[in-house]
Amino acid sequence: MCGIVAYIGPKAAYPILINGLRRLEYRGYDSAGVAIIQDHNIVLYKRRGKVSDLEDYCMDKDMAACAGIAHTRWATHGEPNDENAHPHLSEDGKLALIHNGIVENYLVLKQELMRRGYTFRSNTDTEVLVHLIEDIYKNEQVDLAEAVRLALSGVVGTYALAILSAENPGQLIVAKRGSPLLIGVGDNEYFIGSDGAPIVEYTKQVIYLKDGEVAVVSPHREIVIKNSENETKRPYLEKLEISLEQLEKGNFDHYMLKEIFEQPNAIKDSMRGRINTQKNVVSLGGIIEYEEKMLNAHRFIIAACGTSWHAGLIGEYLFESLVRMPVEVEYASEFRYRNPVINEDDVLIVISQSGETADTLAALELAKSRGATTIGICNVVGSTLARNTHAGSYTHAGHETGVASTKAFTAQVTVLTLMALGLARKKGKIALSQYYQLINDLESIPGKIEKILTQNDYIKEIAQFVAQTKNAIYLGRGVNFPVALEGALKLKEISYIHAEGYPAAEMKHGPIALIDEAMPVIVLATEQETYEKVVSNIQEVKARKGKIISIVSQGDKLVKEMSDYAIEIPRTEELLTPLASCIPLQLLAYHVALLRGCDVDKPRNLAKSVSVE
Ligand code: F6R
Repeated sequence: MCGIVAYIGPKAAYPILINGLRRLEYRGYDSAGVAIIQDHNIVLYKRRGKVSDLEDYCMDKDMAACAGIAHTRWATHGEPNDENAHPHLSEDGKLALIHNGIVENYLVLKQELMRRGYTFRSNTDTEVLVHLIEDIYKNEQVDLAEAVRLALSGVVGTYALAILSAENPGQLIVAKRGSPLLIGVGDNEYFIGSDGAPIVEYTKQVIYLKDGEVAVVSPHREIVIKNSENETKRPYLEKLEISLEQLEKGNFDHYMLKEIFEQPNAIKDSMRGRINTQKNVVSLGGIIEYEEKMLNAHRFIIAACGTSWHAGLIGEYLFESLVRMPVEVEYASEFRYRNPVINEDDVLIVISQSGETADTLAALELAKSRGATTIGICNVVGSTLARNTHAGSYTHAGHETGVASTKAFTAQVTVLTLMALGLARKKGKIALSQYYQLINDLESIPGKIEKILTQNDYIKEIAQFVAQTKNAIYLGRGVNFPVALEGALKLKEISYIHAEGYPAAEMKHGPIALIDEAMPVIVLATEQETYEKVVSNIQEVKARKGKIISIVSQGDKLVKEMSDYAIEIPRTEELLTPLASCIPLQLLAYHVALLRGCDVDKPRNLAKSVSVE
């Protein structure tokens, strides 16, 4: 969703800002803007569309400045247009502000500010913030930072914001509650980012601002941070855990393709240091202190959204099969509003690539407030989810730029597998032989994925057929049912083809009505307990002339003969098949989207990190 970048220091600000906006594009946006300071005046340019449109617009302008703020906006309040793009200016034009998050009480604030004579140029919730700050700054005889703190005390909602002031050109003011904000510390210069992407090129030293904090950054001065109670807080420097290389496409045409091909290494990184190969023991350092709580839990609740929710569904199979403990998997967005029964002996596992998904964070807070133990599985180091859970495990998949999640998903499933294996062994629910077998098989997964990736050209051929359809059905059973959901989600989000995932046996209860000769049915038919049942489901589709694209185990003959296209994947323990069977579906979605001329890395309307509910 929206992205923030800001700079103050001796360098030319504009190139840093525009470069930062490009690095933030992956988050999803529909307009962009920049404000700089020149001769004690704020100069502002905003454009609907791409960052490149803003860049073209600024091409012939004088952009010389040593301080500036810039933003990519993903519309919530007010349509995507030039006026609604950030930054927003105060009435006197001396303050410019960019904001991520939502001001929930903006209507009340807006009415009051209008009554006081402020004019609103946009339909956004954000504009109230800049007028409110201006109002307090002018009337309360306080400095700007204090005016920001006082203004924010009256705001309901979430924000990460950066403010540029023509009267105070040597400083930037930033604040945060609910949305992430990082301050990169350079050599007498500061870089602000809503994540590490616009900062990492310049510095790896960062301060993660905490909720309620307001910071003043000025070159040649120490950062001043105050919390919502006006107490001074010491800045705490941390190392940014991403590399520039992770942010580049390398030799790949798209981030998504790069990230699909990175999966063998991402999975190895997820496992690194967590399997003692000499002793064949699984242990996740991040949860050791809470292992007893997990072992003695009454039940596990897994809450997540989208692809992470699909990983959670696979987690349910893993935990129930191996640990023999009850698991409920919840859409975080539903869970948070359902007044669910949560007890102190429940363990909530929240799964999130970004660690900033608003609904997942709200589910986490709800469970915490009811006394449950909370465990995070998260990719972004230092994210809100990672900070707010009792304990957790990072997925270590590396920065994921493509909006369609791929390597983060398989890394989540890897961590869930390790967690389930570790707990199952400690609880004595799994025979040593099965434990070793699963560990060995898990370690062989990266090599198996390498083999699947060699079929990229064949999958491209299959994509030619799927690209022509309007609908697609994905079927799977058991642990491959969530893979069917995930395959369908990948296809619809990047190619805009309507796709549904179903448990194969459910097809008879409705979706079978959709099947005709134009309908591709993608079936996960690897050799598992329900193989014969899936074969029957395939017969049912064929009897109605549906086209079968199957994912089968290497050497399979039966389903292969029944299929219009069959993709073979190496054999593996049934519980681990999702780690392999999802790969062809990711590649299929990628190639279909390309053939349909879609923007694979930045699908329409989608945001990488859904930080508003
Ligand atoms: C789909 C996708 C989304 C995310 C969902 C949750 O490819 O990426 O469905 O999985 O928005 O995001 P995180 O995992 O960041 O909480």
